[in-house]
Amino acid sequence: MILPRPAATIAAMPRSGIREVMELAMARGDTLNLGFGEPDFDTPPHIVAAADAAARAGRTRYTASRGVPELREAAAASLARRGVPVSADRIVATAGGVQGVLATLAALAERGDAVLVPDPGWPNYAGICTLLGLEVIRYPLPPAPGFEPDLERLDALAARARVRVMITNTPSNPTGAVWRGETVAATVAIAARHGLAVLSDEVYDEMAFDGEHVPSIPFDPDRVVAIHSLSKTYAMTGWRIAYLAAPAALVPVIAKVPEVEISCPTAPAQWAAVAALSGPQDCVTEMRDAYRERRDLAVRLLRDEGLFVAEPRGAFYIFADVSAATTDTLAFAKRLVTDHGVACAPGDTFGPGGAGLLRLSLAAAPDVIAEAIGRIGAAVRA
Ligand SMILES: Cc1ncc(COP(=O)(O)O)c(C=O)c1O
Repeated sequence: MILPRPAATIAAMPRSGIREVMELAMARGDTLNLGFGEPDFDTPPHIVAAADAAARAGRTRYTASRGVPELREAAAASLARRGVPVSADRIVATAGGVQGVLATLAALAERGDAVLVPDPGWPNYAGICTLLGLEVIRYPLPPAPGFEPDLERLDALAARARVRVMITNTPSNPTGAVWRGETVAATVAIAARHGLAVLSDEVYDEMAFDGEHVPSIPFDPDRVVAIHSLSKTYAMTGWRIAYLAAPAALVPVIAKVPEVEISCPTAPAQWAAVAALSGPQDCVTEMRDAYRERRDLAVRLLRDEGLFVAEPRGAFYIFADVSAATTDTLAFAKRLVTDHGVACAPGDTFGPGGAGLLRLSLAAAPDVIAEAIGRIGAAVRA
């Protein structure tokens, strides 16, 4: 009997180091968890109530594949309040930001084309490129100054043959950097010089603590696709609802992808998103303030332990420098779980730029953060 053979590319695709560490942590049980990039807050009750009401009212069927008009209007109005004037017909609802990234890359690059990916950067960019048969070209984000791109290097890489898309991500996972407006403008200008599309991942846009998040679309509305998500902003990771804003000419092409892939995002989640985007926003401010306090705590403790790298200006991540103890951050992160009961993400999983670093997620209670940093310090010294 001949058994089916898996596709070689996907079989060879590396799993995320974060998953490997978290599986170990879950098996152990009593681990202090700074691993997952997931808010520790509950979805605000008015958002849950809106989904409940929608489901009870029979809004449980397929919707338009781009999302219900009310969601697209609410997303456009929310973006307008944040300084991005786009009309609702440029919005496509997606099943999480991750699906928005996939739809955009699938629509804008052919198999064999190349994509510029930040290093260190969110591992799913490379994974999605593998799925789509796209080459990953990493561009460095040096720690000094502030994990912003080396523009000369970015320009040189953008000139390479077959590069079609530049991915930018500010505020950034994993660095916590919030790029200055002049940097955002310069990256879009480089993309323009080389005829590239910009996939601007702005899923942490409402989580800038110091300085403003500067959106990319206003610099070149016909070139930039912005990815937005409700996951982090409204503590809705499990609802799988997000949206993207794209140039008018690209919307019909990008929207074909969710049509064949998921038909449409979950209907009650779309109505929850309408309530989130158009309802009171104090929950967003409260969560941001909590992350800022935890950031301040983590900065102080990492300095005390001699592990400090840089002060994040947004998102909810911070690096710890463990290069004195290891050159293999995955092995070190696994040992932290088994020997010290702390889970965090190995820096190598974010690309060569994460070498010697651990990413700590600040989506945990302050006492957990404090205890975990103390244990990491002890592990490095040991
Ligand atoms: C940089 C970045 N982009 C996109 C996402 C996707 O989030 P979601 O699919 O939950 O909207 C994440 C999630 O961790 C992220 O860190």
